[in-house]
Amino acid sequence: MLSEQTKAIIKSTAPVLQKHGKDITARMYQIAFSQRPEYKRYFENTWMKHPLDGGPQPARLAEAVCAYALNIDNLDALKGPLEHIAHKHTNTRVIAEQYPVIGACLLQAIRDVLGDAATSEVMTAWGEAYNFLADVLIKREKEIYREEDAQMIAAARK
Ligand code: HEM
Repeated sequence: MLSEQTKAIIKSTAPVLQKHGKDITARMYQIAFSQRPEYKRYFENTWMKHPLDGGPQPARLAEAVCAYALNIDNLDALKGPLEHIAHKHTNTRVIAEQYPVIGACLLQAIRDVLGDAATSEVMTAWGEAYNFLADVLIKREKEIYREEDAQMIAAARK
């Protein structure tokens, strides 16, 4: 569970994230693809077919991060969007091991874009909040993979 203090810090960063969200997520992809060029393969059949300025993905991810910050007290409100994201992830075969890598890139991007506003309190709170959200998605994605496996096994036995 996230502490009340962490939640308060996350909420207080919602306006700044709304303002710089797209810059942060665009920077995150820049860092991620320079450190892990092989991760491009997950996006090959998505917006990366027409990358240009990164396509709509940075804006979607920024929107998701802002929605998370705004609803940190009421995660039930995000159930629908999280289910949608989990399916997007399993369709592109994203796995649990990739979350810490993307998390480190996201935190670095927050630091780069927010500059002095990225105090150690803000960075610690976002580190905790990212891990919390990652765990929710990882758990659901594992379930979806298991459901898919069960369906394939059942189909093969017919
Ligand atoms: C807490 C962490 C994460 C959040 C909040 C998140 C959020 C999102 C969102 C909002 C979308 C767009 C859904 C849409 O098209 O409507 C998305 C898609 C995607 N994400 Fe993530 N993501 C996270 C972690 C990851 C990780 C670790 C990877 C691994 C490389 C990843 C790879 C992808 C891919 C490949 C897509 C599909 C793009 C598409 O189909 O157009 N994400 N994610």
